[in-house]
Amino acid sequence: MQPTRRKIFPETMKQRKNNNLPIVVVVFSVFLFGVFMYNEDVKSIAEFPFSRPKASENEILEVQSKQRNLVHESMKKEKENVGSLNTADEETIAKESDQDLKKSIVLKDKEDEEEHEEVVVEKIEIPVIEEDDEDVELPPESCDLFDGQWVFDNKTLPLYIEDECEFLTAQVTCMRNGRKDSLYQNWRWQPRECNLPKYKPRLLVEKLRNKRLMFVGDSLNRNQWESMVCLVQSVAPPGRKTWKKSGSLAVFRMEDYNATVEFYWAPFLVRSNSDDPDMHSILNRIIMPESIEEHGKNWKDIDYLVFNTYIWWMNTFNMKVLRGSFDRGDTEYDEIDRPTAYNKVLTTWSQWVDKNIDPNRTMVFFSSMSPLHINSTDWNNPGGIKCALEKTPILNQSMFLYVGTDRRLFVVTRDIIENMKVPVHLINITKLSEYRKDAHTSVHTIRQGKMLNPEQQADPATYADCIHWCLPGLPDTWNEFLYTRIIARS
Ligand SMILES: *[C@@H]1O[C@H](CO)[C@@H](O)[C@H](O)[C@H]1NC(C)=O
Ligand SMILES: *[C@@H]1O[C@H](CO)[C@@H](O)[C@H](O)[C@H]1NC(C)=O
Ligand SMILES: *[C@@H]1O[C@H](CO)[C@@H](O)[C@H](O)[C@H]1NC(C)=O
Ligand SMILES: *[C@@H]1O[C@H](CO)[C@@H](O)[C@H](O)[C@H]1NC(C)=O
Ligand SMILES: *[C@@H]1O[C@H](CO)[C@@H](O)[C@H](O)[C@H]1NC(C)=O
Ligand SMILES: *[C@@H]1O[C@H](CO)[C@@H](O)[C@H](O)[C@H]1NC(C)=O
Repeated sequence: MQPTRRKIFPETMKQRKNNNLPIVVVVFSVFLFGVFMYNEDVKSIAEFPFSRPKASENEILEVQSKQRNLVHESMKKEKENVGSLNTADEETIAKESDQDLKKSIVLKDKEDEEEHEEVVVEKIEIPVIEEDDEDVELPPESCDLFDGQWVFDNKTLPLYIEDECEFLTAQVTCMRNGRKDSLYQNWRWQPRECNLPKYKPRLLVEKLRNKRLMFVGDSLNRNQWESMVCLVQSVAPPGRKTWKKSGSLAVFRMEDYNATVEFYWAPFLVRSNSDDPDMHSILNRIIMPESIEEHGKNWKDIDYLVFNTYIWWMNTFNMKVLRGSFDRGDTEYDEIDRPTAYNKVLTTWSQWVDKNIDPNRTMVFFSSMSPLHINSTDWNNPGGIKCALEKTPILNQSMFLYVGTDRRLFVVTRDIIENMKVPVHLINITKLSEYRKDAHTSVHTIRQGKMLNPEQQADPATYADCIHWCLPGLPDTWNEFLYTRIIARS
């Protein structure tokens, strides 16, 4: 039986093809290019007297990085009591001996670093976005997009070039940071029973016109947000896109579309003592599982909301739940079993969504857990060092694979979402990401806002980040799932 298929006709592209670019437009563009060139030079000279425009961008990133280097405390101290400064901020992940779900993760949090300044990056380039007229074929609603396999594809991937997306932060630009192998950019997720629709930035951006798309959650959702910014930014002309951050909210804006792609920092979704955008690396992570309004007021009137919360739960077996309120200065807490506390938090979240979200306006997504790759014996590579030496995904899917993901939280998420009034799309990224031991930033990243130095890079056992992901890379695939749902919306 033929699965029913729906088609989308990208009207803007049709028009583009029919009227070939008149020569006057070309001439005008060349003129504009000159004007932009001039302006950009003047601006960058004003702001960065001794640098070329290209360098000025790097400087902006560097400035950001430096300012991120503010407060760093380590969860490791929780175990060690006294940690030397050297080891205090390492990411150390210790496994417990139980072979069940209990994994205690003590990790240096790489988020601790945030920045206040507003950055407006303007880049000189004539946007050349050639999109063919081919219709985009949507997979049938019934197809399980998350059941499939990774296939090598260096023809259609990566979806953008690392160096061409100036909005990527130094945390994720693995090639620029010295990674030599690039094949991690060339794996396409192939669902078993259907195809993902071909990625067309313009099609997505048209759906975002006059709308706000917001990622809410922890640094993995920020990872995905950076990917989304790069997936759409090529459509916006130079000087017509901005990147601003203030407090917990970072906003990428495309002027000509009145569209934003935003990230809101709330690692537990509910209130916690880790919410401060500048110093949220707290030894004793404590949450208020019933308190969501303060964050939630920032999530109203958004058209596409993408939530997650996972990695911050993994430091300790139990979650510390405040008795009372931070506002009243209460400090006493109860320790509650992780899935129980997670259930409380997601229940609060689901009630907030059901009460505040108009499903006729807003599409809601929830990303499942993003896995870590800390112990290479998990994938039968006893000679490995964390994820650092991995260059290919796990392709043998019949191999038993357990990398420490706490699937109990998955069950909680699924059960809660199923009982909500507002439909929530679960982005089931966990299993397919578990295969991607090759895709982490590893030693090609920053730590405390500074690039790892060669000595640190040579010591992956200590310094490799096997939590976050390189871009372009795996989070682009997560966004393709969003893309699929968003363009399918009538
Ligand atoms: C998530 O996807 C995996 C396959 O990638 C599947 O085994 C699992 O059942 C899915 N879970 C849910 C809740 O859909
Ligand atoms: C793509 O991969 C194939 C097979 O590994 C290789 O022969 C080819 O040179 C690659 N093409 C590009 C553009 O990297
Ligand atoms: C611009 O986008 C905002 C946020 O989505 C929306 O409220 C507003 O109506 C839009 N403006 C116009 C002129 O459409
Ligand atoms: C959504 O729209 C439908 C059809 O227009 C309407 O019947 C329904 O009441 C709306 N739901 C909400 C929550 O506004
Ligand atoms: C990795 O896992 C294996 C098997 O569970 C265990 O024996 C080993 O100690 C672990 N290594 C590290 C560094 O935790
Ligand atoms: C895949 O893994 C299974 C189970 O570990 C093993 O029996 C099989 O030989 C593997 N297949 C390949 C092609 O390595």
